[in-house]
Amino acid sequence: MSDISVRVLAEDEWEQYRAVRLSALEESPEAFAATVEEEQAYEEDFWRMRMRRSLRLVAEVDGRLVGVASVGQGPQDNERVAELFGLWVAPSARGTGVATELVRAGADAARGRGRSHLAYWVGTDNGRAVAFASGFGFRPTDTRRPMRVRREDDAEDEIAMVLPLGDDRGMPSL
Ligand SMILES: CC(C)(COP(=O)(O)OP(=O)(O)OC[C@H]1O[C@@H](n2cnc3c(N)ncnc32)[C@H](O)[C@@H]1OP(=O)(O)O)[C@@H](O)C(=O)NCCC(=O)NCCS
Repeated sequence: MSDISVRVLAEDEWEQYRAVRLSALEESPEAFAATVEEEQAYEEDFWRMRMRRSLRLVAEVDGRLVGVASVGQGPQDNERVAELFGLWVAPSARGTGVATELVRAGADAARGRGRSHLAYWVGTDNGRAVAFASGFGFRPTDTRRPMRVRREDDAEDEIAMVLPLGDDRGMPSL
């Protein structure tokens, strides 16, 4: 198996982020609240603002971009919590450790910025993502919210999962 490398994209690399983000939305529409049609319409300024707002991590294998994850600000009233979101691995690279490397790098970055916990909201019907997060060490919480509605019959909830980044094993307010 080839090496997996993970790096943080700079603002000027927004087109790489755009390409992988649109691939994710196109390939796994059920996993994300946004749609590919919506995001295809965004202009350069918006993508640049996104690059500045959160950390955009990509995973590469043999120079090919095979996964993406973002780490940003957690709940507004809790500066100590960072949030992992937009996690996606190309189907051909699933089950090979790419998600683990992406989340490890995201967790390290959040820890380096003084965050005590990493929160991750995931659809309760998304068995593979929940299994991945549990295996990584995220713990389920009692906190749920409706997944932002895309269709009227879309009643799926998201569950908040939390990964402690240091010695504080308590559950933060989300
Ligand atoms: C979620 C995702 C990033 C995980 O990456 P991955 O490479 O598939 O993850 P892994 O294979 O390392 O781990 C998945 C775990 O789920 C298990 N699994 C596989 N299919 C499953 C299923 N249908 N239901 C439950 N568990 C499942 C695997 O066996 C593995 O567990 P293990 O490590 O104990 O063997 C990837 O599947 C993906 O991109 N999915 C589509 C987008 C998505 O749902 N993103 C999350 C949005 S919040």
